[in-house]
Amino acid sequence: MTFSLLYSTALIMKLMDSFFFLALVPLALALENGLMRTPPMGWLSWERFRCNTDCKSDPHSCISEKLFMDMADRLATDGWRELGYVYVNIDDCWMAKERSATGQLIPDPERFPSGIKALADYVHARGLKLGIYGDMATLAPSLVEGTLWGVDMLKFDGCYSSSDVQAQGYPKMSRALNATGRPIAYSCSWPAYRGGLPPQVNYTLLANICNLWRNYGDIQDSWDSVLSIVDWFSANQDILQPVAGPGHWNDPDMLIIGNFGLSCEQARSQMALWTIMAAPLFMSTDLRAISESAKEILKNKLMIKINQDPLGIQGRRILQEKSHIEVFLRPLSHSASALVFFSRRTDMPYRYTTSLAQLNFTQDVVYEAQDVYTGQIISGLKAADNFTIVVNPSGVVMWYLYPTMYLDQYNIMAHLKIF
Ligand SMILES: *[C@@H]1O[C@H](CO)[C@@H](O)[C@H](O)[C@H]1NC(C)=O
Ligand SMILES: *[C@@H]1O[C@H](CO)[C@@H](O)[C@H](O)[C@H]1NC(C)=O
Ligand SMILES: *[C@@H]1O[C@H](CO)[C@@H](O)[C@H](O)[C@H]1NC(C)=O
Ligand SMILES: *[C@@H]1O[C@H](CO)[C@@H](O)[C@H](O)[C@H]1NC(C)=O
Repeated sequence: MTFSLLYSTALIMKLMDSFFFLALVPLALALENGLMRTPPMGWLSWERFRCNTDCKSDPHSCISEKLFMDMADRLATDGWRELGYVYVNIDDCWMAKERSATGQLIPDPERFPSGIKALADYVHARGLKLGIYGDMATLAPSLVEGTLWGVDMLKFDGCYSSSDVQAQGYPKMSRALNATGRPIAYSCSWPAYRGGLPPQVNYTLLANICNLWRNYGDIQDSWDSVLSIVDWFSANQDILQPVAGPGHWNDPDMLIIGNFGLSCEQARSQMALWTIMAAPLFMSTDLRAISESAKEILKNKLMIKINQDPLGIQGRRILQEKSHIEVFLRPLSHSASALVFFSRRTDMPYRYTTSLAQLNFTQDVVYEAQDVYTGQIISGLKAADNFTIVVNPSGVVMWYLYPTMYLDQYNIMAHLKIF
């Protein structure tokens, strides 16, 4: 027998309690520019287009204003913008080799003949935002142009700078951005130069001055590279996980989905694992030539909803099985959660049997799970129920899991409609 139950605060608290083992205290202090309350989404040139400045022989793929205009067109007309992919971000190699007569940084006049301000206008006219890149060694003195140009985000790199210069430079740039009065999201590459186990980084300070930060080395177009990032993030999750939250994110680097290095299973895995990590979703692929299967992964609405969950809690790896299946969990709003079952196997699809109780979900709730990739719904799942899923080699099964019923002390089901 089921009957409706108005949801009371106590009941909601009870459901929330089931995640007590993940209870996390958000940082009291964080950068207060109001930006990036959920992980940023967009497109960034580096992984796919690098420092290709040869516009004579490769006009279609060189770093030029045309490339960024083309990508802005694709984001605006192919349905990306509506899903949240709004940043069009320039990375390195946009600058002229020589400064202007007055000593200012300028974009390469042949590759960016209209200038950055015109590019920003072009991007803004399509409802998008423009990000730009600078290195500490060169950009700091030219911040003023960035402001005049109307950019919306700055990725501030620290190559060729000593650790002392970085320690001064990153907070200084944060204050300078604030002083411009224009809301400019701030991506810091500082910790990427302080890797190691454990990372030699003051993440509290970073969350106070940056909206996101690149924790680790640059991603390359390979599965090995994706795995090395997942390994490093998981090994350091006790340090990294608590520092993420609305306005301040760990950044495991770009999505390489749509390029050459990943199989379809691996592409699904990158998307799922990045989403569990509450990672920024910056695609670095040629949106003019992307395959339908890659598009489908990147445009998965439930995936994006999970990535953009307003609580902004980063997930964790909660289990590594001897069978080389790993389980990741991210708590979401409305007592929901995302689960990723990830196979490190290289033999064949693996039949993995477990139960929510084994994953420490609370006993007195009935759950429903939606498979994020297939859309299949599993109803009436109790914590003690064993279930078997099939996880492909280097692939994932991802679930959006939410409570639908609450079992009271007499084990009578009380109907709880949360959605
Ligand atoms: C500058 O910082 C102050 C205090 O944290 C904040 O209220 C303000 O919105 C910031 N302005 C910009 C443009 O980031
Ligand atoms: C880290 O930075 C915070 C905020 O600036 C500061 O209060 C704290 O003392 C720093 N911790 C260490 C170990 O330096
Ligand atoms: C479940 O909880 C037990 C006891 O606290 C702990 O040892 C175990 O690692 C947890 N398992 C998972 C998957 O979180
Ligand atoms: C689930 O499987 C475990 C062993 O893997 C077993 O002990 C338990 O009885 C099973 N539970 C149910 C409800 O079948």
